[in-house]
Amino acid sequence: MNQSEFIWQNGEFVAWDDAKVHVLTHGLHYGTGVFEGIRCYDTERGPAIFRNLDHLDRLERSAKLYYMELPYSAQQLRAATHELITRNDLRSCYIRPIAFRGYGQMGLNPLDSPIDVAIAAWEWGAYLGEQGKVDGVRAKVSSWERISPRSLIPHAKASGQYLNSVLAKIESLKAGYDEAILLDEHGHVCEGSGENIYVVRDGVIITPPQTASILDGISRRSVLQIARDLGYATLERDMARAELYSADEVFLTGTAAELVPVREIDDQAIGSGKPGEITRVLQNAFDDALHGRSERYREWLDVVDVREWASA
Ligand SMILES: Cc1ncc(COP(=O)(O)O)c(C=O)c1O
Repeated sequence: MNQSEFIWQNGEFVAWDDAKVHVLTHGLHYGTGVFEGIRCYDTERGPAIFRNLDHLDRLERSAKLYYMELPYSAQQLRAATHELITRNDLRSCYIRPIAFRGYGQMGLNPLDSPIDVAIAAWEWGAYLGEQGKVDGVRAKVSSWERISPRSLIPHAKASGQYLNSVLAKIESLKAGYDEAILLDEHGHVCEGSGENIYVVRDGVIITPPQTASILDGISRRSVLQIARDLGYATLERDMARAELYSADEVFLTGTAAELVPVREIDDQAIGSGKPGEITRVLQNAFDDALHGRSERYREWLDVVDVREWASA
């Protein structure tokens, strides 16, 4: 991976190689951590973090769901991120804030373990590949069911929960696909291993509702708003597996992947087998918003004042 110079760890900037944890860190054993994935883009106004406070708000909500009180406020984490980007001299990067139960007590009761917080930022290209964004990716419906709200908390972005995504991802890669699509226990479509999913049918953009076992994606909220602003009809409702195969278009959204067309699912071509028109329009409009080329969504960007931080 593209290393940066510094990582922010518990209030200090430390060298990348010195950002360490003890092997008996609670979160390492039991997955007791919550995190975010955020992107910063090189815009005309400077490095700009996409919906930073919305991500930090989700981090706080994920923490609460796992009985973790974060020792830093969202504003403190925001400031630390701005300083980190400045110190690392980054223009565009991926940002990974994480809060986890640290070293202290072993055993399943995490409540006496300290809460450690770190933020890393590094240059990271298109998660599903540049070619995938252009031509579309091939996906496989996973044999692994998406985590259920009866056993975990699909709406939290928590470390241990990602074992579910990891299994689905490995399965899809080993079978020769780019990404996995997970269903819930009723067979309804949930999402990709790290992206929300949409089908387009007869001009309507359909995506599983927030009450489904999905992560309430920040790219999802953004792309739905852009779609509505462009005059497209959107529908948030349960989605049957068959709707994937009979869709005119399918696409995925996520911070790491951005907006990626799906050209094939389980070896069935989607539509013409090429990214569809609505997917293309939304991809371009979303790209404009991310890169600060859209006046309308200007307030989604949290611009890093590099000069101010450099002199701080
Ligand atoms: C399971 C899962 N679903 C959906 C998403 C998309 O969420 P966002 O757009 O906030 O990155 C992600 C990525 O964080 C994810 O891990």
